[in-house]
Amino acid sequence: MTFLRLDNIKKSYGDAAVIKGVSFAAEKGEFVVFVGPSGCGKSTLLRMIAGLEDVSSGELYIDGREVTYEEPAKREVSMVFQSYALYPHMSVFENMAFGLRMAKKPEAEIKAQVLEAARILQLEALLERKPRALSGGQRQRVAIGRSIVRHPKLFLFDEPLSNLDAELRSQMRVEIAKLHRSLGATMVYVTHDQVEAMTLADRIVVLRAGLVEQIGSPTELYDTPANTFVAGFIGSPKMNFINAKVASIAGNTLTLAHPTFAGGTLALDTPAAARTKLGAPVTVGLRPEHLSVGAANPVLALTLDFAESLGGSTQLYARSEGEPIIALTAGRPNLKPGDALTLGIAPSHIYLFDAAGLAL
Ligand SMILES: Nc1ncnc2c1ncn2[C@@H]1O[C@H](COP(=O)(O)OP(=O)(O)OP(=O)(O)O)[C@@H](O)[C@H]1O
Ligand SMILES: [Mg+2]
Repeated sequence: MTFLRLDNIKKSYGDAAVIKGVSFAAEKGEFVVFVGPSGCGKSTLLRMIAGLEDVSSGELYIDGREVTYEEPAKREVSMVFQSYALYPHMSVFENMAFGLRMAKKPEAEIKAQVLEAARILQLEALLERKPRALSGGQRQRVAIGRSIVRHPKLFLFDEPLSNLDAELRSQMRVEIAKLHRSLGATMVYVTHDQVEAMTLADRIVVLRAGLVEQIGSPTELYDTPANTFVAGFIGSPKMNFINAKVASIAGNTLTLAHPTFAGGTLALDTPAAARTKLGAPVTVGLRPEHLSVGAANPVLALTLDFAESLGGSTQLYARSEGEPIIALTAGRPNLKPGDALTLGIAPSHIYLFDAAGLAL
């Protein structure tokens, strides 16, 4: 059942179009993640869903009802911000109770709701503390608690973990995933953290400059990115791109030329052969984690620039004719800067894009 629907939503500030027509539907209970570079409009979209920002045009539906022009309080939506300013003079309990007190809920109900949220977030032992006596992760949980107590229909999170250090981030990431499971609530979550997007999302919406580039499950976006933008955005380290040219087409066999390829060419059996033509530019995409050192049939012939050991794996930085290539390999290959480096890849892992950057 569709729970949240955005229908050609646009937003301009004066002459500046910031959201240029976003349409999207989320199912009840779905965890949707918005990703995209800084300034692409993620927070603006979220704020429009919450009603904190006017929509310039388009329609917005929550739980089957149009709410485009409805005031925020009536939308039964709750938002957790990056800067989760807690009231410093209030206890954890009072911070969580604040919204309910403002809504003049009966005392017994306030207490029940706060205790229930505290149980879910494991804050029971901290209810009498002031925010200054809490760790970053605990404060973040209180901020989430403030939003749980209101029993919203829809949770909105705007980069809620970006103020935390790496370890706390990953702990809280797991907490949020658990919370989603236990509440079964619909959530829309903004981040530019790769790992958060991949691990939390049922579906990811990739945004660029106020437009949707692609919507899909994390694995769909990883396996079949629609274009070079999505291909470069999903996956870490970033996908390598080689700007090759079509040297020959014979049936299904497409031969691409670029000095980075071993022997100067790369031959592939692909249905994409029918969708390009001789001399056309084709961008070849290779994910660092798919490249392997010392393959029997190397695809790339490079020179190693330097290697970074990550302990269990090694990140290799190589170049050939100016194209920097990164490979991520298990173990610690015995290589030093300046060494010849040949890399292989399974043909099924080779991505092809046309001159406009669209998947071939
Ligand atoms: N009140 C405003 N007036 C004019 N332009 C604005 C206003 N608020 C936001 N913008 C612009 O709208 C665009 C989208 O902003 P938004 O905050 O939604 O980006 P974002 O994707 O959340 O970025 P970040 O990842 O940096 O948080 C930006 O170019 C921003 O400068
Ligand atoms: Mg933002």
